[in-house]
Amino acid sequence: MARITITFNGNEALRLSAGELARELALPLAMAGEPDSDLQLVVTPEHLELQDARDPRQGPVYADFSRLDFRPYCANLSRRQPLARAIGKKTKSVVDATAGYGQDALLLALMGFRVTAIERSPVIAALARDGLQRFIKHTGMNLSERLQLMTGDARALLAAIAPRPDAIFLDPMFPPKRRKSAGVKKEMRLLRELVGDDADAPELLDISRATARDRVVVKRPDDAPPLAPNPSMSLAGKLVRYDVYLTNPRRPG
Ligand SMILES: C[S@@+](CC[C@H](N)C(=O)[O-])C[C@H]1O[C@@H](n2cnc3c(N)ncnc32)[C@H](O)[C@@H]1O
Repeated sequence: MARITITFNGNEALRLSAGELARELALPLAMAGEPDSDLQLVVTPEHLELQDARDPRQGPVYADFSRLDFRPYCANLSRRQPLARAIGKKTKSVVDATAGYGQDALLLALMGFRVTAIERSPVIAALARDGLQRFIKHTGMNLSERLQLMTGDARALLAAIAPRPDAIFLDPMFPPKRRKSAGVKKEMRLLRELVGDDADAPELLDISRATARDRVVVKRPDDAPPLAPNPSMSLAGKLVRYDVYLTNPRRPG
């Protein structure tokens, strides 16, 4: 288990925010540079970042949506692209039950779906919340009606979401590659260290199938087997595949 502390970048004005975050996440507050942790969640004037204290040369990880092309009508947000087609044209509400850093949840919200995102790692959820808040501040968009982020285990929280969502989107951790790739991005490396391999993803899929009014969409690497056999359909994206499990086969589209 990685030892994690909260710190701030030396700017005393940030001590308060760091202290609040430490209380919220029930993690110890440490001074920057104190070596007694594996990972440090650092409050800086710009953003919240995760540092690998064992290897600071790796550089920080933070949720950054500023370089993604999310302009209205751009290809990323097109309802013709595989993710939107997998979610379905009649779908209005989506739960992203494996929110991670929040990129897919943001994408879905900007496509016009009403999204509830759930992330069970409080550290990853804090990074996602920070990235989403900066995106909203930077773009001036009001997403409060369309995107909310909850921290907790979706296996327990899904039952409490009312009304039931039309679709549930799952993007559990991909099975680790047999050959270790040197090119694994630090974002993914630290994510895997914090959250593991999501071995309970099949259980989450079962619960999701019993909850979604219309469908569950599972994002998989293009060369991985489906999370459960016989998806109703599969749509190929760039390096990934979206397996769709219809839960109400009388409502196609
Ligand atoms: C591959 S990441 C998702 C990446 C995300 N789609 C994005 O755009 O950033 C998988 C995430 O799902 C979360 N997760 C897995 N099972 C979960 C569960 N039962 N409830 C909530 N979060 C879960 C993990 O903690 C991890 O952060």
